[in-house]
Amino acid sequence: MTDTTPAPETVEPHDAVDVIHAKRDGRALSDEQIDWVVDAYTRGVVAEQQMAALAMAIFLNGMERREIARWTAAMIASGERMDFGSLAKPTTDKHSTGGVGDKITLPLAPLVASFGVAVPQLSGRGLGHTGGTLDKLEAIPGWRADLSNPELMQQLDEVGAVICAAGSGLAPADKKLYALRDITGTVEAIPLIASSIMSKKIAEGTAALTLDVKTGAGAFMKDEQDARQLARTMVDLGTDAGVRTVALLTDMSAPLGRTAGNALEVRESLEVLAGGGPADVVELTCALAREMLEAAGVQDADVEAALADGRAMDTWRAMITAQGGDVDAPLPTAQHVEELRAREDGVVTGLDAMGVGVAAWRLGAGRSRPGEAVQAAAGVEIVKHLGEEVRAGEVLARLHTDTPGRMERSLAALEGSWTLAPRGTAMPERRIVLDRIA
Ligand code: URA
Repeated sequence: MTDTTPAPETVEPHDAVDVIHAKRDGRALSDEQIDWVVDAYTRGVVAEQQMAALAMAIFLNGMERREIARWTAAMIASGERMDFGSLAKPTTDKHSTGGVGDKITLPLAPLVASFGVAVPQLSGRGLGHTGGTLDKLEAIPGWRADLSNPELMQQLDEVGAVICAAGSGLAPADKKLYALRDITGTVEAIPLIASSIMSKKIAEGTAALTLDVKTGAGAFMKDEQDARQLARTMVDLGTDAGVRTVALLTDMSAPLGRTAGNALEVRESLEVLAGGGPADVVELTCALAREMLEAAGVQDADVEAALADGRAMDTWRAMITAQGGDVDAPLPTAQHVEELRAREDGVVTGLDAMGVGVAAWRLGAGRSRPGEAVQAAAGVEIVKHLGEEVRAGEVLARLHTDTPGRMERSLAALEGSWTLAPRGTAMPERRIVLDRIA
């Protein structure tokens, strides 16, 4: 006879609707409510619609410092914690809040590792108009983003630098919540961004963390005060969790360097590793490298010398080769290239990062649906950057894509992205690092 006794009903200690009401009405959530709602959402007991409503209530009404710390801890507890304690070298990591042309991780990880420290860069894919480090590296023939934990440890030990996908075991609550926020207009909330980033970084187990918090048109936090508050919140979360955490507040009003798009950005990173490259990319790479090395106990490192004399490039080659990449294979090039030309003479006094980011995304460098393939060769190459003079008819930018049908909407995204002043107008020097928050 089959047993027809119903399974005992699981009684949950809270009700999602009560938690939503509390935050909707501007009240702080208790520790128990936070622990439960994050865990129950990960288990599928709290429905996506309910978490979407709660995320919007958090977006609108914010969270206290205690709530953010507890929310972060609950997301860490949803998955595994890694431990780099068995490595013979100190670990130091960096995280950027995301921007346009932000290829800094590519030259930075091997540069820092060339000083004998371990750099575990667990990275992500593109989100909206911002590019993803893994998408960029996948432009290199053969390169593999997915490593097992033992492979990650071995590479850290032998090469020092690893850039790979975060395993699915790390903060699974964040993975689910991040995908939900992306489609419910709730990305740009300080408590949610701070807990999302820091839960992954604390769970990863790095001893030291340098944050690159971006502000300006191409950043998630467009307003400098908001970016400062985000930086402060993340530094406090890291410090309280025993991670040596420092943030640099950096300019994202204009794109970093002259490229936005996967293979285009790898090519520009190689220029930096060869001792050249655009001044803004070099400046930010070196500033972050110094912070990361200092946090790992390496004082007064001459990072410029390690770029100039090929040490960083040697580590790059070892890092890419270890993950199956062919460092000598040609990078993909686009089947169609169109030029955008200036309508008048002038000097470039403004270059809108958002316009360039959206254009690169529409050319195929990013996704419009989760899981969609990106085009390795698509993107925008900036010919006239800030402070440069231009004549009517000269090329401002080149647009690269394998799909000519994408050109029109991409050109439309670039409309008005260059601000020109009369030739000879003096431009104040662009500051890349705006502040340091420790
Ligand atoms: N990057 C993350 O990992 N999470 C956010 O919420 C924003 C940027």
